[in-house]
Amino acid sequence: MENLIRKEVKSLSPYVAGKPIDEVKREYGIERVVKLASNENPYGCSQAVKRVINELVDETSLYPDAASHDLKEEIAKTFNVDKDMVFCGAGSDSLIKDICLTILNEGDESIMGEITFPRYESNTLLMGAKPIKIPMKDNKLDIQGMVDAITDKTKVIWFCNPNNPTGTIFTEEEFLTLIDRIPRSVLIVMDEAYEEFVQSDKFPNTLELMKAHNNIILLKTFSKAYGLASLRIGYGIGEINFVQYLNRVINAFDSNLYGQKAATEALKDKEFLKYVIDNNEIQREYLKREFKKLGLKYLDTHANFIMVNVNGDDKKIHEYLLSKGFIIRPGFLLGMPGWIRVSIGLEGDNREFIELLEEAIEYRNNN
Ligand SMILES: Cc1ncc(COP(=O)(O)O)c(C=O)c1O
Repeated sequence: MENLIRKEVKSLSPYVAGKPIDEVKREYGIERVVKLASNENPYGCSQAVKRVINELVDETSLYPDAASHDLKEEIAKTFNVDKDMVFCGAGSDSLIKDICLTILNEGDESIMGEITFPRYESNTLLMGAKPIKIPMKDNKLDIQGMVDAITDKTKVIWFCNPNNPTGTIFTEEEFLTLIDRIPRSVLIVMDEAYEEFVQSDKFPNTLELMKAHNNIILLKTFSKAYGLASLRIGYGIGEINFVQYLNRVINAFDSNLYGQKAATEALKDKEFLKYVIDNNEIQREYLKREFKKLGLKYLDTHANFIMVNVNGDDKKIHEYLLSKGFIIRPGFLLGMPGWIRVSIGLEGDNREFIELLEEAIEYRNNN
């Protein structure tokens, strides 16, 4: 069978996901496991969304609406855009693949940060195109370096803002100094999966920028601030003509029935969204204060996770925390050995995490 596999598929590394909670329980024989590894929403989802999901219990045998009509209408209303500019898919993860399927040919170049969401690279490779990875600058995306790397082979440039895993942002002012140097023939993807958590008023207003630059598309998700990761709904907003082609590529039923209905309801519940954002902010500040007390350097995060420097072997820290039932993301898996990425959790879990981290560092230093 080996002969059947495309060389592009052979070039891919398997995705290493955060360990599932049940696996950690089994492996370490512990009852309570806290997952702070995948930037999920510790507050769950809104009560109104739960009611909608409950009401759908008898609809498992039905295909979802292939046009995602109601959801697209709600997104269009929320962001004040034309409904035909909106596209939906099975998480923004799958939309990244759909974008690559739509535009990339063998040999095309696709520009991204060196340390960023790994799906830009893997889907570029899958198409036989060439990832151009630009080194980070002070642990942030070097957006000037990314724009400098554009050639006549460049098809797409991926701006992850806030960037996963660093949590850092670039500002509108910084972006505006570069935008006119990006040719109209290059697609600009603004992946703003964590935008809801940003408090800075300097963050780019991508929808506004899109009015003058129709080669920008915005990618967003219901997996993070809305707490619907398991329902797999991502969405985007872009120029109508481009979106029409993209819709030919997106599988008709990728946006499942539960996800569509839940996401439509989630957008209406502004109170829950505010609750999530406010609490994330309080806990983000708490963690920063505690890291400071421990003398640990952390990156200036604007998201629901934080990257912290553990000054040495992050693998051992990861293993120690796992044995105590806390799952985090070790930096060696993210291209940042010596660091760990921790999702911002509930108040009590964060407090416990800090205590365990202190223990873990001591254990690591003595073993
Ligand atoms: C930057 C970024 N983009 C996209 C995604 C994909 O999210 P989803 O497929 O759940 O919508 C993630 C998930 O972690 C992410 O961090």
